[in-house]
Amino acid sequence: MHVFGLDIGGSGIKGAPVDTKTGALVGERIRVATPEPARPDDVVATVVEVISRAGWDGPVGVGFPGVVKEGAIHTAANVDKAFVGFDLAERLRRELGAPVRIVNDADAAGLAEIRWGAGVGVEGVVLMLTLGTGIGTALFIGGKLVPNTELGHIELHGGDAETYASDRARKVHNLSWKDWSGRLVEYLRRMEDLFWPDLIIIGGGVSKRSEKFLPHVKTRTEVVPAEMLNAAGIAGAALAYVPEASVPPEPPAATVHQRRQE
Ligand code: BGC
Repeated sequence: MHVFGLDIGGSGIKGAPVDTKTGALVGERIRVATPEPARPDDVVATVVEVISRAGWDGPVGVGFPGVVKEGAIHTAANVDKAFVGFDLAERLRRELGAPVRIVNDADAAGLAEIRWGAGVGVEGVVLMLTLGTGIGTALFIGGKLVPNTELGHIELHGGDAETYASDRARKVHNLSWKDWSGRLVEYLRRMEDLFWPDLIIIGGGVSKRSEKFLPHVKTRTEVVPAEMLNAAGIAGAALAYVPEASVPPEPPAATVHQRRQE
């Protein structure tokens, strides 16, 4: 099956058609800068632009940088707060006249790495991190995703961990790779102490420069760069259409609360 995978990021909105069997991008990758401020109407218009430039007419899987449940957005750390409560899936379905499914962006990247990249065949607990504008996390056990973990927002030095250790923090504070690696190691050690993962995969923009920081990363857990580099976000978003990919079903099964009422 071919699905258009779309990755909404802090700086760019990127997409390409994806073969959901192999994870390969089967058409040109298109990138348009994320509007600033990233308000829902402007982001929707940019998504529509990317898809029409690709000449795509068919199902679309989207990775969004916030908590996503049943196509609606629940948090917006690095996009405009007007996204909170916005039903992005419904709006895009209307605009595009095509089926649309949405997952968290780090979950999308993690799903791709587990299926086609650095996490293939790892049975235990795998933590995927995307380091970019924020810190995104995807947690897996036996290849199954626990959706919407927001571990980039744990407290570190009295603040939000992502403002201390994301790739944006490296750029904003003009840190050397070595100094930034020190911050990253502090963050990784907190993750290790809390989750005891068997493998940590580092993705996002920095994954293509892993030789700059991985030599400084000394942790109990094995840490490896994402194999699909930045393509993981696009390929993983398309996996929203593959039931065996362990993406939460849509519409979701009845909640415990609903079941109790029956
Ligand atoms: C958001 C996450 C997202 C991550 C990476 C964080 O600020 O809260 O939902 O996955 O950034 O984009």
